[in-house]
Amino acid sequence: MRTSVFVGISLDGFIARSNGAFDFLSGAEGEPHGYDEFFATVDAIVMGRNTYETVLPFPKWPYGEKPVFVLSTRPLPPAPDGAVVEHMEAAPAEVLSRLAARGLDHIYVDGGITIQRFLRAGLIHRLTITRVPVLIGTGIPLFGPVDADIHVGHIATRHLAGGAVQSEYAIDLLRSGSGV
Ligand SMILES: NC(=O)c1ccc[n+]([C@@H]2O[C@H](COP(=O)([O-])OP(=O)(O)OC[C@H]3O[C@@H](n4cnc5c(N)ncnc54)[C@H](OP(=O)(O)O)[C@@H]3O)[C@@H](O)[C@H]2O)c1
Repeated sequence: MRTSVFVGISLDGFIARSNGAFDFLSGAEGEPHGYDEFFATVDAIVMGRNTYETVLPFPKWPYGEKPVFVLSTRPLPPAPDGAVVEHMEAAPAEVLSRLAARGLDHIYVDGGITIQRFLRAGLIHRLTITRVPVLIGTGIPLFGPVDADIHVGHIATRHLAGGAVQSEYAIDLLRSGSGV
């Protein structure tokens, strides 16, 4: 099983403003940044409740018929017609073992708190981070506290139009103390 993160952030490391808005990411639009190609490779999405509540009002459900597992300790608002959404409340390792048991192999993990919990559990393999050249000062951070250093290997960096920089990293799970 593989887990990947694909996010856009401000130069100072935020995935959204404190109110959830991500208007500042529009600086990375206008040039293909590989999201569609990435999305085509994933079997399922695991996201936190806050991300689910952010995408729910979108005019079009962005995940097609791919299964979306929403993590929350509370009941979820209903999913839009045609969306394949399942509520889960479990620790990251348990979530992945349930998905693996269903034959799902490549998992896209999304949402700040959720990414941080999976990283901390040593359960993220790939990070693709598109850094948009703007400082927003405060907001929802991509990264948070870790129990021990997490070693990442740089795979590639490319410049996008408008000054965004996209870097891909593989996480060295063995060196970081996890054998997953
Ligand atoms: N820039 C980007 O590329 C990007 C990507 C994704 C999201 N975003 C933005 O990020 C914001 C959301 O991120 P966020 O950090 O607030 O949170 P999030 O990860 O989307 O959601 C966090 C919530 O998910 C639930 N949760 C997470 N792990 C759980 C587990 N193992 N078991 C049960 N519940 C669990 C908890 O909700 P409860 O305790 O309430 O149940 C937790 O408070 C939104 O504004 C979204 O637009 C930006």
